[in-house]
Amino acid sequence: MGRLDGKVAIVTGGARNIGAVYATTLAAEGARVVVADVLDGAPAAQAIRDAGGEAVSVEVDVSREDDTQRMAKTAMDAFGRIDVLVNNAAIYVSIQRRPFHEISAEEWDRVTAVNIKGVFLCAKAVFPHMRDQGGGRIINISSNTVMAGTPNFLHYVASKSALIGMTRSMAREMGSYGIRVNAIAPGLVEHDGQSVPPELSASRVSARSIRRRQTPEDLTGAVLYLAASDSDFVTGQTLVVDGGDILY
Ligand SMILES: NC(=O)c1ccc[n+]([C@@H]2O[C@H](COP(=O)([O-])OP(=O)(O)OC[C@H]3O[C@@H](n4cnc5c(N)ncnc54)[C@H](O)[C@@H]3O)[C@@H](O)[C@H]2O)c1
Repeated sequence: MGRLDGKVAIVTGGARNIGAVYATTLAAEGARVVVADVLDGAPAAQAIRDAGGEAVSVEVDVSREDDTQRMAKTAMDAFGRIDVLVNNAAIYVSIQRRPFHEISAEEWDRVTAVNIKGVFLCAKAVFPHMRDQGGGRIINISSNTVMAGTPNFLHYVASKSALIGMTRSMAREMGSYGIRVNAIAPGLVEHDGQSVPPELSASRVSARSIRRRQTPEDLTGAVLYLAASDSDFVTGQTLVVDGGDILY
């Protein structure tokens, strides 16, 4: 018996890196998964099916409303319900860190369109289905750069800050429909998809209470907790999962 047997979960940005780990983890707990990404999510969905799970993929740019509506329709057509939305898609690994005054207005607009508007549009797309079912879970992936005030990343930090406020407002608006909305703020997660300079890695490790590198698997417990009934009375919260780097 999995904790998510009978549930349907959409993972945006689920084609690779941390999102693919979320998708695999939710599937291993019994969820039927929709891998939604601007990249081809078919290999990630196939890997879940190869492991005995159920998954489909859909190509979606989360900053486009038509795409997000198609994402929800794909989930409904394939599985007939939507219980969990993990808003993980973001412009992240491709960002070049630079002083704020060197960030172009165009780059600012693109990062905020995907990282903020994308979360709004995905929530809007799943909401009627969750409301009609009598409940659901939305998990917004923020970042501990918000609490750290990480420099040279202003559009990204602004976008991930917005998600914390949006999580609170969305929780209040959707609570009466049985929809819980929470956020996770990871620390620097090291995986094959991003090259972390050794000095940056070492600085994060030494700042943490738990002195080791953070992996995508360090986040799966938090995602499962917020997706499953264990967190039934928790909403509007941001769970910082960073090995005790930020303590607040
Ligand atoms: N890696 C870290 O250190 C770290 C730390 C804190 C938070 N996060 C957050 O965790 C999440 C995953 O990070 P990651 O390290 O796997 O980075 P990533 O850049 O590989 O993951 C983002 C995913 O979103 C997808 N995506 C990008 N634009 C999209 C769009 N317009 N529509 C749909 N999908 C789109 C990408 O294709 C990718 O699969 C992101 O939200 C990121 O901001 C990462």
